[in-house]
Amino acid sequence: MRCDRTTAWAALRGHFEAHGRDFDLREAFARDAGRFSSLSFEAPEVFADLSKNHLDIATLRFLLDLARECGLEAQRDAMFAGAAINTTEDRAVLHTALRAPRGGSRKEHAAKASPFNDEVHGVLDAMLAWAETVRDSAASGIRHIVNIGIGGSDLGPQMVVPALDAFVHPGLQFHFVSNVDGHDITPVLRRLKPAETLFIVASKTFTTQETMANAHLARAWFEAEGGTDVARHFVATTTNVQAAAEFGITTTFGFWDWVGGRFSLWSAIGLPIAIAIGADHFRELLAGAYAMDRHFVDTPLASNVPALLGLLDVWYRNFHGATSRSVAPYHQGLRRLPAYLQQLEMESNGKRVDRDGELLPYATSPVVWGEPGTNGQHAYFQMLHQGTGAIPVEFILVRRPTFGSAGLNADLTDRLERQQTMLLANGLAQSQALMRGKTTEQALADAAPTASTQLDSAILARHRTFPGNRPSTTLLLDRLTPRSLGALIALYEHRVFTSGAIWGINSFDQWGVELGKALCKDLLPRLTAVEVDNADLDGSTAGLIARLRA
Ligand code: F6P
Repeated sequence: MRCDRTTAWAALRGHFEAHGRDFDLREAFARDAGRFSSLSFEAPEVFADLSKNHLDIATLRFLLDLARECGLEAQRDAMFAGAAINTTEDRAVLHTALRAPRGGSRKEHAAKASPFNDEVHGVLDAMLAWAETVRDSAASGIRHIVNIGIGGSDLGPQMVVPALDAFVHPGLQFHFVSNVDGHDITPVLRRLKPAETLFIVASKTFTTQETMANAHLARAWFEAEGGTDVARHFVATTTNVQAAAEFGITTTFGFWDWVGGRFSLWSAIGLPIAIAIGADHFRELLAGAYAMDRHFVDTPLASNVPALLGLLDVWYRNFHGATSRSVAPYHQGLRRLPAYLQQLEMESNGKRVDRDGELLPYATSPVVWGEPGTNGQHAYFQMLHQGTGAIPVEFILVRRPTFGSAGLNADLTDRLERQQTMLLANGLAQSQALMRGKTTEQALADAAPTASTQLDSAILARHRTFPGNRPSTTLLLDRLTPRSLGALIALYEHRVFTSGAIWGINSFDQWGVELGKALCKDLLPRLTAVEVDNADLDGSTAGLIARLRA
């Protein structure tokens, strides 16, 4: 049933008016000494503290009712069973089959069952074996890997490779080229020699304008710089093996139309990751994701972390009216996570009609944005603390670092350990400050009379007041390893599935990117043709074209 027509939706509306609008986190903690333990949850590799959110056990109960009334579990099981839930493209959605262990059969648990198990493991074995030959740089001569792809054929590997830096082959350098803007590829090419370079052309369709332009440019550069043997230095990862062959690529690792671009890092699109961290670690990444799949399928909704996070997203978006969520990973390796999540969440759930094509009267995907902590603290956290509206923040803390201290003296090791502690203290302090705030009285007590010569201390204190009561979630990992990262990414995938399932939308298509692509095809010749007649265009576009041609 559509979520806004359920009994639970009406109950949540009433609950929000009675207890949600004026919910006070500080009072909630003062009232309930067990709040942290009752609102924090364990998932594989990830501990989730939801207790600093505007919810209580009653809210959770209503949200779980909503999940049941919307058939979340049945929808989840249909996805895992390979039903064609991406109805507008008539496709199954089976990225979970990419991490199911070898030998899963239909009779076994849904998360393991896949009719494609043999095919998946065939490609995986071949890809990982090939990745190992590239990693043997003494034999391969390869020092630089350039991934040419965009969107889902870029953001996953581009996020994962730096995140797992401690596991990356020390003799290889990774470059990610996505933008059709030549300012992306030129600084990369400047650092390369053809004989030491492997180009991976990554494109599910092998038709994407930006990727094809960059791939052709890379090949032209390769040949112009005296490179020989295109077949050895260019490899493709795609579902369109035929188009890759026409490009002149003979080594291709394939995948399937039931793998959505933004869910594809587990497939051949993960080749740069496999080359970076090696076969065993790549399998660990898959194993971490698989553990999260099992958690999502096996765990009752009341303690199912991806389901709870997805429901929380619905609570904030549809009842509190939150238009965005800020993600703050306190791990520099996760610096591209917000960009990765922007595609995962906003391309999936940025929809305005339900599965039957009916216009929705309620909001869907929030804006997702962020930067690594502590950098964000010195930029936009001002707005999170003292801006006019509350924005839910998601802190990701990683207890132990992976950068290693081998080769460093005791003093440096000690300094690095202290910096790790500083990092964690910063993350904790921010979520505490958001919740706690600072009253005008406290600010008045603190406001030194000499702080401003122009304002009296009462006015100054108001500038220094923090409203507090601002919600946050903390996800805690022990170490950022292939396994824990795999689990974390799968957690986000299932969370997005959950909110999309509640909203009744198709989270697996992306028609919204098509119009711009089509219009670009029309405008392209107008920028260069000798004779143009732009009378059919709007005044702005025609005017801008005239200036660009001048
Ligand atoms: O334009 C959006 C999109 O289709 C994404 O969904 C996809 O990840 C990206 O483009 C790249 O597509 P491809 O892998 O086919 O080049």
